[in-house]
Amino acid sequence: MELKAEIDLNRLPKHIAIIMDGNGRWAKKKGNHRIFGHRNGVKAVRETIEASAELGVKFLTLYAFSTENWNRPKMEVDALMELLMNSLVNELETLCKNNIQLKTIGDTASLPADARQRLYDVMSQTKDNTGLNLILALSYSGRCEIANAVKDIAAMAKNGQINPDDIDQCFIQQFLDTRDYPDPELLIRTSGELRISNFLLWQIAYAELYFTDTLWPDFRKNDLYKAIIDFQKRERRFGMTSEQLPQINNA
Ligand code: IPE
Ligand code: IPE
Ligand code: MG
Repeated sequence: MELKAEIDLNRLPKHIAIIMDGNGRWAKKKGNHRIFGHRNGVKAVRETIEASAELGVKFLTLYAFSTENWNRPKMEVDALMELLMNSLVNELETLCKNNIQLKTIGDTASLPADARQRLYDVMSQTKDNTGLNLILALSYSGRCEIANAVKDIAAMAKNGQINPDDIDQCFIQQFLDTRDYPDPELLIRTSGELRISNFLLWQIAYAELYFTDTLWPDFRKNDLYKAIIDFQKRERRFGMTSEQLPQINNA
């Protein structure tokens, strides 16, 4: 049976987040430069977006560049920025054709001016689309995001706009870059690394984690389907017992 057919479309994760990792190792295995791996990761991005849109996933967040990635060799950073720029130019038509809205999280102000401008253009040109929300994490750091939220909230408290007692989880959530999106239910990381690398630290409190050895440039629609099928087999208890869960009682 085709893998896709095994997916229960009524129990899709609303939001999938992906740490796209392993481009450098993929290139090295082929005796090539790391940048060759990044270039070959574009097809995996395209397939993942297309598969998510076709299934009806509402939110897809892709970790494309972390704040820590600025510390890579300048040549690699420049190549990644150029790749971002070219992808934004080349993919606009496909995004519109598939009714996809482009969003970002992270410190996009630190991107090179041309890439930043192109990013804002594509976001504005796709803002009325009503299908998949494609959220690119660019110059993103989960800790910086939380620190910025704390700073904003502290300023409001200092001005007397809020009382410290007003601060609860829901309140904090409104100050994060992800304020308009639900928390991801499924987090995928490719390339066999078993860590979070400063991604969505607040938002993944109850996400199901899925790790695969597949290197990002090899990731295809079937790999996404496998992750979703695995997710659908899990029992999400949120601290409760199996007996308390309605879906189990009704089974
Ligand atoms: C992920 O692949 C892409 C980015 C972090 C931008 P890597 O470049 O981290 O590849 P590996 O982990 O070195 O193989
Ligand atoms: C995480 O991958 C960042 C992105 C995928 C954009 P890294 O390759 O930068 O993470 P570490 O350094 O191995 O933790
Ligand atoms: Mg890596």
